[in-house]
Amino acid sequence: MSEAPDRNLALELVRATEAAALAAARWVGRGQKEEGDGAAVDALRLLLGTVRMNGIVVIGEGEKDEAPMLYNGEVVGNGSGPLVDVAVDPVEGTNLLAKGLPNSISVVAIAPRGALFDPGPAFYMDKLVVGPEALGKVDIDATTADNLAAVAAAKGLDVSEVTVVILDRPRNKATIQAIREAGARVRLISDGDVAPSLMTALPGTGIDVVMGIGGTPEGVITACAMHGLGGEIQARLAPQSDGERQRLAEAGIDIGRKLTLADLAAGDEHFFAATGITQGDFLRGVRYTATGAVTHSLVTRSRSGTWRTIEAFHRWDKLMEISKVEYA
Ligand code: FBP
Repeated sequence: MSEAPDRNLALELVRATEAAALAAARWVGRGQKEEGDGAAVDALRLLLGTVRMNGIVVIGEGEKDEAPMLYNGEVVGNGSGPLVDVAVDPVEGTNLLAKGLPNSISVVAIAPRGALFDPGPAFYMDKLVVGPEALGKVDIDATTADNLAAVAAAKGLDVSEVTVVILDRPRNKATIQAIREAGARVRLISDGDVAPSLMTALPGTGIDVVMGIGGTPEGVITACAMHGLGGEIQARLAPQSDGERQRLAEAGIDIGRKLTLADLAAGDEHFFAATGITQGDFLRGVRYTATGAVTHSLVTRSRSGTWRTIEAFHRWDKLMEISKVEYA
């Protein structure tokens, strides 16, 4: 049954991630992650106010950071349009930004109201992220070797040709060893597991799987993107301290539960936008010209299954006449 096309809110969200990336890009490599994050938060918040939605921030700057803006529960959007949950990460990979390292991005995702998994006090989760070819063929309860064999078979590769990205943390030591023993290639990253998660579902990136324990908010954001890109994330909460464990127990959250794509982001309409800040493997970072800057973004919508990249050319002379954000 066909119906008239409706709005693709991701095309509005991308203006917000572009603004955040442009603001954050002024802080690339300056060693000051809080300042870079703060600039991105201000810009993102301002532009989100123009998006035709009635949003509540479910994944915000977060419990971990005790942020004063874009906090969990904050109302965002222009107040009209659909009731939605909003997940933001103005700078995903603040250390990458501060050190000028690849793959820091600015990200926003939205889903129907009540659809996003609320991480509450859960900071960390174990994740398994794969692209469309391996959708439905992996299981976070299976062994690492079995999952890598399944991905290899689904993609027509030998296991030795499969690349797995994993955060370089002591907590991931056993998984890193299991990946190596299975014969796959490990790519250790210092921060920022959202960008490589997207890359598992994008063509020609050379990244096949993301595994290991990373941030819970980043897992929920990844789920929104995977709905649009046709890939999959499975997860299980993995508290890393007694305090985190205790807060989860007090909140009555079952840490043993396997979280599927639909558990992390329910519903049938998810919009996602991400803009590169530092130069990345897929998304290019902010590049300056004599008159402005160029941004590169990914935009997805789950209902249509369409994803787009958008290269935008920004002109300071025009922008500074109409914008409150100090881009230049
Ligand atoms: P930021 O919040 O500084 O942007 O860090 C993001 C991130 O690197 C995520 O990509 C990752 O999932 C998580 O932090 C890992 O957490 P930790 O650095 O505490 O191991």
